[in-house]
Amino acid sequence: MHVTLDGRTALVSGSTQGIGAAIAAGLAEAGARVAVNGRDTRRTEEAAASLRERFPSAEIVAAPGDLASDEGLAQVLDRLPRTDILVNNLGIFGARPALEIDDAEWRRYFEVNVLSAVRLIRAYLPGMIERGWGRVQNLASDSAVVIPAEMIHYGMSKTALLAVTRGFAKEAAGSGVTVNSVIAGPTHTGGVEDFVYELVDRSLP
Ligand SMILES: NC(=O)c1ccc[n+]([C@@H]2O[C@H](COP(=O)([O-])OP(=O)(O)OC[C@H]3O[C@@H](n4cnc5c(N)ncnc54)[C@H](OP(=O)(O)O)[C@@H]3O)[C@@H](O)[C@H]2O)c1
Repeated sequence: MHVTLDGRTALVSGSTQGIGAAIAAGLAEAGARVAVNGRDTRRTEEAAASLRERFPSAEIVAAPGDLASDEGLAQVLDRLPRTDILVNNLGIFGARPALEIDDAEWRRYFEVNVLSAVRLIRAYLPGMIERGWGRVQNLASDSAVVIPAEMIHYGMSKTALLAVTRGFAKEAAGSGVTVNSVIAGPTHTGGVEDFVYELVDRSLP
């Protein structure tokens, strides 16, 4: 299948490494103008520069900003006021015994993994609908349906993302804009390496 995204702009949240970086590369290869995002300005610019090197004909924008905060969202919207494709890839994960997850941690997972996506959808979906074309992809996980005992806060956030996807898909129905989620499975990324090292360290005497 040959996908051409010439003339389309895409934003991939959390794309300085891992799955997000791979998605950004795929979109650039398909011809889209791609905005790369991460919390740190320098790291985001470096990720954008490395994409430019790989795909010299693609237009790559660095759009840094912590999407778990209003300020970060404003920073990204300022850099990229419109997009045709929104990939809500950003997600944090970690292991913690279910009874030890406190309120602050439950809130943090909801804020980062769910609300960051909702905020971006709220910001970009109306423009997509007005223009009659758009694609929203939310990165869920197998943990959304098979909740790991040591990651129920993460599982909750990914199940919520499925609900969010379904709801906004109905909101956009008939407009030319589709809203979908991807149930990603275990993938070797920087985030997963950190996660595994954390588990191993914790189990050492
Ligand atoms: N890897 C897996 O096995 C797996 C399986 C199923 C689903 N998923 C899902 O796939 C997505 C990507 O996973 P991954 O393993 O590629 O993650 P990762 O390696 O941990 O990368 C996370 C990315 O998000 C960015 N980020 C973190 N917090 C941010 C924030 N507040 N605002 C903006 N950017 C932020 C990080 O950039 P900076 O550090 O530069 O800010 C980094 O680029 C997540 O939603 C995850 O839940 C992953």
